[in-house]
Amino acid sequence: MDSAGMVVSSGGQEIEVLVKNENVELGTILKIGNFYGIVAHMRYREDEKIGSKQKLTAKTQIFGKLEDDRLVKIKRPVEPYKDVSLADERELNILLSGEYNMSIGEVYGTAARAFLNPSEYDRHLAILASTGAGKSYTAANLIKEFASLSLPVIVVDTHGEYQKLLSKLIENTNIDIEIYTVKYPRKGYKELKIPASDLEAEDFGHFTILNETQKSALGLILERLNGKDYGLKEIIDYCDKLDKDVIHEETAKALKRRLISLERTFKGVFDRYGTDITKIVQPYQVTIIDASYASQGVRQSVVSYLAKELLQGRIKKENEMPNPIDYKLLFVVEEAHNYAGSNLSHSCKYQLRRIASEGRKFGLGLCVISQKPSKIDEEILSQCNTGIYMHITNPNDKEHIKRSFEAINEEIVRGLDSLDVGECIIAGAMSRIPFLMCKVDKIPVEKEKKGMPKYEKPKNMKVAGFDYV
Ligand SMILES: Nc1ncnc2c1ncn2[C@@H]1O[C@H](COP(=O)(O)OP(=O)(O)O)[C@@H](O)[C@H]1O
Ligand SMILES: [Mg+2]
Repeated sequence: MDSAGMVVSSGGQEIEVLVKNENVELGTILKIGNFYGIVAHMRYREDEKIGSKQKLTAKTQIFGKLEDDRLVKIKRPVEPYKDVSLADERELNILLSGEYNMSIGEVYGTAARAFLNPSEYDRHLAILASTGAGKSYTAANLIKEFASLSLPVIVVDTHGEYQKLLSKLIENTNIDIEIYTVKYPRKGYKELKIPASDLEAEDFGHFTILNETQKSALGLILERLNGKDYGLKEIIDYCDKLDKDVIHEETAKALKRRLISLERTFKGVFDRYGTDITKIVQPYQVTIIDASYASQGVRQSVVSYLAKELLQGRIKKENEMPNPIDYKLLFVVEEAHNYAGSNLSHSCKYQLRRIASEGRKFGLGLCVISQKPSKIDEEILSQCNTGIYMHITNPNDKEHIKRSFEAINEEIVRGLDSLDVGECIIAGAMSRIPFLMCKVDKIPVEKEKKGMPKYEKPKNMKVAGFDYV
């Protein structure tokens, strides 16, 4: 095999390679004897050892060596001046695969599949990148892979795009897609309903404007109704029963008016008991919650309700209580900054935090997707042990990513600028090597044509001395 370069310095887990081959790039997996490493950073430098003219070098992270076709950690550094070659497809397969495998694309620059370890799904994932970098395509590929391994997946779809993406991907598989609409029913689809009893006083503030006194009056009502079987109507009726010494009569009346108008606006979203979430979690099934027509407040309540019920259902299963969710699952939240924003006070954030910190014990994995990583609650992000990063340029987002993820360092973050559409860096629990550059599989859906409109100018007609358009 052609030489890719030569080791010019070596220490611990890191070497520097003098590059002699055009195919060596960020993310290339190199072979040095029976040691393997991945290029984490490239630069031109001058050194008397490598010649006085600037030469291209590649800082490479050594991640192990193969012994009997098994990857083991290294205990001593690589020898300097050793010859370096590119790892071939067979070697990449051995390095990346394990007992369970899934793949969403190819190792960058090769035809080898980029295998990941799916069993780490419950340590949570984050897909982070600028708009248009390919997050949804990547998520759709991931969802299909998990579902084909029998893991049920629930997706909160904010743009109504997953049906199209997934139906292409599941052709000729045994995966089913089930769609629930929110607020706007569509023929042939089921509807997702939220029980009003699930909302906290703070949450109502996302549907209607409530001042602080009205909010605390509402809080009092919810406290009194707690444990009882109630819907929005009972909350409204309770406004008349509030103790006048505790809550000013005018406050109670104003609150009642607001709640009545809320009842009208959100007809079709709230109902008394809500959709039975235990039924929507099924093996080999992707359940899409299409919230694309709903308002932000409704979507947040949907996420809050789903997150709470999913975790409760899994806790019940563990404790052998009635109405459990029988299957482990992955919960995917698109546009996660809207539900897990650092400054958000909606209960959806707290429910997502609970899944992030406790979900693993109950086999409930969370996948957050966002184009605004710096807006996401750090507690939630830091619980995501696998990061899939695509093209990102915003320095705040990069800084936030560096702070929140152990598995990613300065050099990898710098490399995010150079990623093209559909290319990603995967680091953390699901990757068996320090990080992996992957070209995500294309999904052959018909593209909506983009471009400038070309309108005809309306023609003026003269009728009886007047201009008509
Ligand atoms: N893996 C890929 N290979 C080729 N093109 C892709 C890939 N992923 C995305 N694209 C292209 O980029 C566009 C935006 O992708 P999308 O996943 O919707 O981005 P995002 O969700 O990050 O905004 C898609 O319409 C598609 O044309
Ligand atoms: Mg998207």
